[in-house]
Amino acid sequence: MWNTVLKDNLKACVPFRNTIRRVVRRLRPYRSMPENDALATSNGLQILKLVRQYDLSARDVLEVGTGWIPTIPKLFKAHGAQSIVLTDVEPLCDAQTAALAASLAQKALPDLNAITGQDLAILESNLAREGIESYRCPPQLEGLPDQSIDLIYSRTVLEHIPQPALVALLQEWRRLLRPGGCCIHIIDNSDHFEHRDKRLSRLNFLTLTNVAWRVASFNGQNFQNRLRHSDYVTLFRDAGFELLHVEGEPDPKTLEDLKTLRIIPAFAHYTPEDLATLTSIVIARNAPVAAAAN
Ligand SMILES: C[S@@+](CC[C@H](N)C(=O)[O-])C[C@H]1O[C@@H](n2cnc3c(N)ncnc32)[C@H](O)[C@@H]1O
Repeated sequence: MWNTVLKDNLKACVPFRNTIRRVVRRLRPYRSMPENDALATSNGLQILKLVRQYDLSARDVLEVGTGWIPTIPKLFKAHGAQSIVLTDVEPLCDAQTAALAASLAQKALPDLNAITGQDLAILESNLAREGIESYRCPPQLEGLPDQSIDLIYSRTVLEHIPQPALVALLQEWRRLLRPGGCCIHIIDNSDHFEHRDKRLSRLNFLTLTNVAWRVASFNGQNFQNRLRHSDYVTLFRDAGFELLHVEGEPDPKTLEDLKTLRIIPAFAHYTPEDLATLTSIVIARNAPVAAAAN
C-alpha cells in the first residue's frame, strides 16, 4: 500500500496535471476497465429502480462527482430527464469518455426497459437528445438557482468529501432541491486501497492513526473521510432531511477481520456491524423547513 501512496502523492505534486491529462488522452485514448464499467452501469440501474420504487421526480437532476465515465447521467437521460447537471472537482470526464458512456448506456437500455417498463424506442430517442447535460467543474453550486433540482445523486463520492465540507454541501443540496425533492447516494465505506491490493482488509484504513491516514490520503483522489454508515444517517438527519430509505448490511468477511484488526481508538465506539457496513444507500427527502416557534 505504501508504494502506491508514494507514487500517488508524487503525482499529486505534479503541476499542470489537468493539461498533462488532456495531452496524454489525445496521445493514448482513455482505457476503461470492463468490470468497473459493468458495476457503474448496474449501480445506475439500481438508482433508477429506487427512483421508480419511491416514485421520485427525476426531471431536473444533479450528479455529484461524475468522475471519468458518465454512464449514470446517460441512463437518467434515457429515462427522460430534461436537464442533468454533472459536477466534479476534477475535470476527469471529456468527449471521449462521454462517448464511451453513451455506448454503455445504449447497451443497458433493455435492462432499463425491464426496470421501468418504458418503451425501448422511447428510451433510445431520449438517449439521443442533445443539450440535456451540462458539466460544472468545479461545481460552483452557488451559481445554480434555489429549488431548481428534483433529484441529486452520487455513486462512490460522499466518502471522498471531508466531513465539514459534506455538512456544508448538505445545506447547499437543501437549497437546490425543490420541496419534496430527494437525494440518492451510494457510498462505499471500504478502504479504497484494498481495491488495488486484495491482501489488505477492507477496513485496513481504520488501523492507521490520523497522521498516517493524512499522509496516505494526501492525493485528493485517495482521500476518504472514514465516516461510517451510522455517521451518514446522523449527518442527513441533522441537516433536516427526512430519510426514506437506509440500506447497509455488514460484510461477513470484514466482521471476521475485525476480530484481529487493531482499530485505532477513534473508531472504538462504533459497533462491529456499523464498522463492517461497507456499502450504504441513502434516500433522503428535502423536508420542509419547520416554521419558527414564537
Ligand atoms: C470514486 S470517484 C466516482 C466517480 C463516479 N461517480 C463513478 O461512480 O464512477 C469520486 C469522484 O468524486 C469527485 N469528487 C470528490 N469530491 C467532490 C466534491 N466535493 N464535489 C463533486 N465531486 C467530488 C472526484 O473528483 C471523483 O471524480
